[in-house]
Amino acid sequence: MSIVEVQQMVGNTVGQMSESLPALILVTAALSLTLAYFSKLAFRQPRSQGTDEKYPPHIPASIPVLGNAIAFGKSPIEFLENAYEKYGPIVSFTMVGKTFTYLLGGDAAALLFNSKNGELNAEDVYARLTTPVFGKGVAYDVPNSVFLEQKKLLKMGLNIAHFKKHVEIIEEETKEYFKRWGDSGERDLFEALSELIVLTASRCLHGPEIRSMLDEKVAQLYADLDGGFTHAAWLLPGWLPLPSFRRRDRAHRELKNIFYKVIEKRRQTTEKEDDILQTLIDTTYKDGRSLNDDEIAGMLIGLLLAGQHTSSTTSAWLGFFLAQERSLQDRCYSEQKDICGDHLPPLSYDQVKALTFLDCCLKETLRLRPPIMTMMRMVRSPQKVGDYTIPAGHQVCVSPTVNHRLRDAWSSRLEFHPERFLADNPAAGEKFTYVPFGAGRHRCIGENFAYMQIKTIWSMMLRLYEFELVDGYFPSVNYTTMIHTPSNPVIRYRRRERL
Ligand code: HEM
Ligand SMILES: *[C@@H]1O[C@H](CO)[C@@H](O)[C@H](O)[C@H]1NC(C)=O
Repeated sequence: MSIVEVQQMVGNTVGQMSESLPALILVTAALSLTLAYFSKLAFRQPRSQGTDEKYPPHIPASIPVLGNAIAFGKSPIEFLENAYEKYGPIVSFTMVGKTFTYLLGGDAAALLFNSKNGELNAEDVYARLTTPVFGKGVAYDVPNSVFLEQKKLLKMGLNIAHFKKHVEIIEEETKEYFKRWGDSGERDLFEALSELIVLTASRCLHGPEIRSMLDEKVAQLYADLDGGFTHAAWLLPGWLPLPSFRRRDRAHRELKNIFYKVIEKRRQTTEKEDDILQTLIDTTYKDGRSLNDDEIAGMLIGLLLAGQHTSSTTSAWLGFFLAQERSLQDRCYSEQKDICGDHLPPLSYDQVKALTFLDCCLKETLRLRPPIMTMMRMVRSPQKVGDYTIPAGHQVCVSPTVNHRLRDAWSSRLEFHPERFLADNPAAGEKFTYVPFGAGRHRCIGENFAYMQIKTIWSMMLRLYEFELVDGYFPSVNYTTMIHTPSNPVIRYRRRERL
């Protein structure tokens, strides 16, 4: 959380509220109360109880209440790297009244990845954001044992037989989408990839019926739902009558209704599709109970949104890395010719898998720009780690971004160097130094889908165009969003001459 974000959040909130004075007063009152509460917390510095309990080093707060929010918000990675240098792998600091303890480096990260959900809890930190968006009965709204079962069911649907069809679908959608780009120009790459990925993900993960309904109105519903993933939703009480909360809740209801109708139709027809929706309709929990419509709809919304920002930012960054270094683009293109044949016929899933160098470029993009820069858990019972005890109430965090650029683990750590992934052991030493998809019980189930989707899209894009940076501008990181996006993400393209 950063001061910039807090300011923006308040700014946005106030902006949206101008139509309603009573609501504005409510928010102001709530904010003051929250601040008063936080300031009390901030002055209560943590103290170890007994002599054998040593809390992790605590970075002094420069400002009461906000703590280190300003420094962190300006440049979170630099802040964490400095903290690592100065205090070591386990370090606490306070922001807006909450204490965050970062586990930096692979060894320290093991505590989070190996933990039980009852001790380091995900629902406590994520549910306020996700439950209003996905709905009740799924993900962080249910006991983790149930969510684990839901993940298993979803994973069953994310299988190779389905991926084979997905490659065809994505190829078709990508060709269709880029018709609007013409032969050459300069365009917002991130915007284009976000639009394309809603279309492909919806068709692959939800099925043809729901994709066919994806017009501007439905896209707006997703955007409104997405508006639920903000720092405002994370910080402010959910009962506040904010317009963005109301839009989120209305979008949730309307989308659910669309899904209900499609599920109902599917349940009635005898002819069966072979896709993820059908898998969810036909499957049961371990105890034999079928999923109800609400659970299926919630899981489908979750599936789409979990993959949307992560995949679209990753694809955009990959594009800028390839545009920056022409030889990488050429190498990916010639790799396609080697594997698919000179005439570049339609892609197959096996070919997409075999594109090793493109794979390395994607891995390297996820190393330098992992979309989830922090994973977080609430400490429910005191945790011993090394010499320290992390008390209940801290939020422990692991940052893939920091682990992916540790001095000791990575050579040429800040350079885009995809060849490193051709080696068996790209990072020296510890286990959790490369974790773009997390690890342990909360690990991502979408990795294979994401690879298949992003590689198919970029294979097609490299067949269509050559890319370059606009006047050498490589986007800086936009830290104001929850997922770090490229700033001003415009790219230059020219149709490739087919030889
Ligand atoms: C480049 C793409 C993606 C990246 C980098 C990514 C990253 C992650 C990470 C880091 C986690 C762990 C979160 C934590 O431990 O707190 C996670 C969990 C998860 N992801 Fe992904 N993800 C991606 C795409 C997808 C896609 C496409 C889907 C669905 C089709 C998906 C579904 C999930 C689910 C269901 C979880 C489980 C959360 C839990 O158990 O708490 N992800 N992802
Ligand atoms: C950074 O992200 C925010 C939120 O999406 C956006 O409004 C802003 O325009 C972005 N800034 C740049 C320079 O791209």
